[in-house]
Amino acid sequence: QNDVGILAMEIYFPPTCVQQEALEAHDGVSKGKYTIGLGQDCMAFCADTEDVISMSLTAVSSLLEKYKIDPKQIGRLEVGSETVIDKSKSIKTFLMQIFEEEGNTDIEGVDSTNACYGGTAALFNAVNWVESSSWDGRYGLVVCTDSAVYAEGPARPTGGAAAMAMLIGPNAPIAFESKFRGSHMAHVYDFYKPNLASEYPVVDGKLSQTCYLMALDSCYKRFCAKFEKLQGDQFSMSDADYFVFHSPYNKLVQKSFARLYFMDFLRNASSIEEAAKEKLAPFSSLTGDESYANRELEKTSQQVAKQLYDVKVQPTTLIPKQIGNMYTVSLYAAFASLIHNKHSALDGKRVVMFSYGSGLTSTMFSFQLREGQYPFSLSNIASVMDVTGKLESRQEVTPDSFIQTLQLMEHRYGAKDFVTSKDRSLLAAGTFYLTQVDTMYRRFYARK
Ligand code: ACO
Repeated sequence: QNDVGILAMEIYFPPTCVQQEALEAHDGVSKGKYTIGLGQDCMAFCADTEDVISMSLTAVSSLLEKYKIDPKQIGRLEVGSETVIDKSKSIKTFLMQIFEEEGNTDIEGVDSTNACYGGTAALFNAVNWVESSSWDGRYGLVVCTDSAVYAEGPARPTGGAAAMAMLIGPNAPIAFESKFRGSHMAHVYDFYKPNLASEYPVVDGKLSQTCYLMALDSCYKRFCAKFEKLQGDQFSMSDADYFVFHSPYNKLVQKSFARLYFMDFLRNASSIEEAAKEKLAPFSSLTGDESYANRELEKTSQQVAKQLYDVKVQPTTLIPKQIGNMYTVSLYAAFASLIHNKHSALDGKRVVMFSYGSGLTSTMFSFQLREGQYPFSLSNIASVMDVTGKLESRQEVTPDSFIQTLQLMEHRYGAKDFVTSKDRSLLAAGTFYLTQVDTMYRRFYARK
């Protein structure tokens, strides 16, 4: 098949959010810690009527309706998520309700899980299926869905929630360059969820930042090596128009791009200008480990990379800054921000994507973009997603009310025999919501 990739996208995030500035004041941390220190503006969260299943039901239904896709045309459905609601029954099986109604139960695929990487694993599975001999000519559908919540403490402002649905097939406006993939996978305890009675992860924040940057280096080296082997030329940052990163918080994205800049400097790549070379020269003899810990290098490389960051990364940051970490959705929400901001100017552009999931799994891969044909065109994807409309119709709540919701959800996690709030006034028409969990832990959803 030619140009296998993403044909259509739809994103959903909860209408409830809390401003990071208000959280700073509430938590008693220094002003600017979350907004400048972490680089975040706002954080979305699920109220008791929403969860990863309802959000993905909404994203999938909306995608099928807005692009006029007959549910019978879906042959594979893959879900990526790290939010555990059931240790056996997949989220995919809940989504089957949409397809069963239309008489389609012939759909392969289940859930993929490894921290924030599950969405990428799901996407690769669907793309590989379309490229394989078992492909039956129908579309693949990939769903990423997560609710990121942390225990009280420094990680709490890095939560978020969203679901993304992506339609997969040939002749896509967002086509995989499948030959240029670099992965790095290893065994680390940086962020994990060993306590099955709690929704909160155990997280070593500092270690997770270093693991992320080491994985980035390693993936970039492999990505460059594959590119060079196939194309015969050295790869540098100049060969990609945009870089999209898994975005737990924006500061890490700034550091990541600066890190790639430093890598290009070390590789003596053509992308680095003379003035920047001089500034980075004092750091050229640091060992890898020293370089991750060096604050001067971090500052200097961010400084020299700033101009390129504004062009190649800044357009990808809107949704992650407004919603927060969406785990498996994060990378694709960053990519959706690019389409939202630049859809009319993306024809012929190459986009490099970096996916990271703690524990750890990571891959760097790339897309080749073209405008495409309606309904599978970049401009139509931007208009369907309606990011501005969705962001503007949100309701800000106070930090106290956010924390009350988290407390309620702590009690509800793993619980049975309860009904959810009858107030669904904030939910837009067409949104799915959780109505009840019965005495057998069965979950029931309805649509507004
Ligand atoms: N004004 C401006 N900047 C400030 C201010 C202020 N008033 N106060 C602090 N800062 C800066 C700090 O200098 C630091 O910036 P730097 O990294 O450039 O030095 C930044 O704010 C964060 O402050 P710290 O004290 O270093 O970190 P903190 O203890 O708040 O924890 C962390 C931050 C580790 C990111 C925490 O939120 C966390 O554990 N998050 C979850 C883990 C995570 O997201 N890891 C990323 C990859 S894994 C994943 O995706 C889950």
